[in-house]
Amino acid sequence: MKRPIAHRALAGLAFALLALAGCKDRTGEAAAAASTPITPSLIPAPVDLQTSAGTFAIDGDTRLFAEGDAATRVAQQFSAYLQSAGAPALKTTREDGKGLIRFVLEAAGAEGTGPEAYTLDVTPDGITVKAHDERGLFYGAVTLWQLVTQGDKGRVTLPALHIEDAPRFTWRGFMLDPARHFQQVEDVKKVIDAMALHKLNTLHWHLTDDQGWRIEIKQYPKLTGIGGCRIPAGDGGKDPKTGEPRPYCGFYTQDQIRDVVKYAAERHITVVPEINVPGHATAAISAYPELGSIDTPLVPSNEWGVFPNLVNVEEPTITFLENVLGEVVQLFPGTYVHIGGDEAVKDQWEASAREQARMRQVGAKTEMDLQGYLVERLEKYLSTHGKRLIGWDEILEAKLPPEATVMSWRGIEGGLQAARQGHDVVMSPSNKTYLDYLQTASPNEPPGRPALITLQDVYGFEPVPAELEESQRHHILGIQANLWTEHTRTFARLQHNAFPRLAAVAETGWTPAAKKDLASFIARLPTQLKRYDAIGLGYAKTPFEPLIATEDNRKAGTAKVTLSNPLDYPVHYTTDGSEPTQTSPTFAAPLDVKLPATVRAAAFADGRALAPASTFELTPAAMLTRTDEAMGVCPDAGRLLLRLEDDGPLEGERAIFNATIFYPCWQWNQADLDGIASIKVRAGRIPYYFQLAHDEPNRNFEPAKSPLGELEILGGGCKGHTLATVALPAAPNADGFLDLEAALPAGTTGKQDLCVRFTGDTRPQMWVLDRITLQPR
Ligand code: ACM
Repeated sequence: MKRPIAHRALAGLAFALLALAGCKDRTGEAAAAASTPITPSLIPAPVDLQTSAGTFAIDGDTRLFAEGDAATRVAQQFSAYLQSAGAPALKTTREDGKGLIRFVLEAAGAEGTGPEAYTLDVTPDGITVKAHDERGLFYGAVTLWQLVTQGDKGRVTLPALHIEDAPRFTWRGFMLDPARHFQQVEDVKKVIDAMALHKLNTLHWHLTDDQGWRIEIKQYPKLTGIGGCRIPAGDGGKDPKTGEPRPYCGFYTQDQIRDVVKYAAERHITVVPEINVPGHATAAISAYPELGSIDTPLVPSNEWGVFPNLVNVEEPTITFLENVLGEVVQLFPGTYVHIGGDEAVKDQWEASAREQARMRQVGAKTEMDLQGYLVERLEKYLSTHGKRLIGWDEILEAKLPPEATVMSWRGIEGGLQAARQGHDVVMSPSNKTYLDYLQTASPNEPPGRPALITLQDVYGFEPVPAELEESQRHHILGIQANLWTEHTRTFARLQHNAFPRLAAVAETGWTPAAKKDLASFIARLPTQLKRYDAIGLGYAKTPFEPLIATEDNRKAGTAKVTLSNPLDYPVHYTTDGSEPTQTSPTFAAPLDVKLPATVRAAAFADGRALAPASTFELTPAAMLTRTDEAMGVCPDAGRLLLRLEDDGPLEGERAIFNATIFYPCWQWNQADLDGIASIKVRAGRIPYYFQLAHDEPNRNFEPAKSPLGELEILGGGCKGHTLATVALPAAPNADGFLDLEAALPAGTTGKQDLCVRFTGDTRPQMWVLDRITLQPR
């Protein structure tokens, strides 16, 4: 029932692929004359690439040669990936010779080369990809696929070249969270293909959490039967016709899991399942209350945050968990099983006589020791099944078996400490590799956590801490990006959040640190985007769009316009309404425009606009309006700013608001109030669906002065003087919004920091600002 806002971020865009002159000659010389060889543009950058004189042209008639099952599989995968990018399938030949693409599996590699290493040679006589393990051969095929997709639909002229390549790290990971929002098997497979084409090799599957249990366990069908469904908060959880509760459900059957694991293995990706205990376990406890630490029945949660619900650590629960893991280890052939361990606030154990008695029984001095006891028991169980335990860095806070591996998420400190203690470590710090954080300051970003983690931030992350002693550095297994999905309701948004930032993770995971170069990476990205377009992979357009900042001079009827691009690609613009092209002026310094004005702009690379041109209509009225995004939150609003979406409609686009859930307050710095009679406020209302655990006392809404609270507008900042107060109604209008107007006191003038806030505890709802407009006298 809520009105959606326009959202351009995910609008489709078909790039015109650069058409290279075709050539049937496969021996080289004529091809060189007929078409220009590409300049290799690879992500991740290889260890070593040397070009030399001569070329080799590939087209639909080029044959693939492979001997033996493994090389033949790789040749077929190469051909299939070419087809997925719109090229014809390449035929194979059984006869070795010149003019071919040859996949060669050698008996042994050079001294010290790992199983993922390969070489790739292009000469005027043909192409040879060589490795001593199928994994390396596959990565060689991916590199060749990247080279060929630089052409047009499988037609390309390559320069003669030699590549020697192998990854820096053995763990190059990506975490998917189907617990908060579920991904269909087909979409998981799309992620797996995209990972493979970035040479990522580990998919961490976060299969259980407070909001849903997503893996079928035959012995405990209620885990998915009850734990697999929640009733979403607000309108999203109601049938719009009947008003009846409408559950959000999903889980993977064991057959589906086997299918995904096999699909991943064929692409040399290991799937690491996560069964999260003792916290993030509300869905499991809802299904089997005997697992819990309190007597109150629970339901799978429709809120986000940190919950107090922990499993107990009594023997029947440990047996239950062992039985679950018993099925899990049968489904996932990889070495690692993730047992979670994060954010397990201990209030329930502290208050439970049974858990206190259990602590004494097992010799645990603290509640954290009791968690350590659980981890130790699960580690023992897993090791008897030939598996290794991995958990979030909280598991370090108790005694930890030396074989346990630590995933460092609260920064790198946990990882540093763990490596020094001799544990293996995967680095996935939340401030560098969490892909649910927004990637640009654009108003076109989908919902998420608005602390920015830009592509540059992700690229700049170095997984091996400088202060880590040389002797312990081998414990850093690699890097992983995590994509939590509280705010990622659709697969389109998931792709937006993942790409292109996952390309940066891939380069850090693969390319030697000394070879990494941000400028080179950004120069290679436009080619990668063409590949994404060719295979139909979604990605964020926001890093490739222009941003605008305006400073208006109301009295003069002009505005100063600043254009920029988050990745510093040059921005070309027009002011006459026409489509900007490569020959339009490049933005270099702020423009003074007379209002009204139309500014159209796009960021360019390699002679192409990287996203459709943005159109900015600058009118005197627009200069008097600020959206929630443009205003920003109040300086003392606390740190839990979120970019949140409305709860309806059930399907389709929903309005999005930037709001601090500790204190709903927005500020327009230095608003010019000269000649302004009143202020119009458009507000929305969203569910307040957050569990803050020990952060709850930081929730600091201004007290209400009337039963339903007020809208307050202050001048001179939020500690300044009240300009207007308007009592709030019980509900918004039918469209989900509320329009209020507040007259300013006579004599209000000058530039002032305008603070707009909502008072009162209106839970389970929360008023949020959509925009404010200054109304001239
Ligand atoms: C986490 O982000 N709670 C691991």
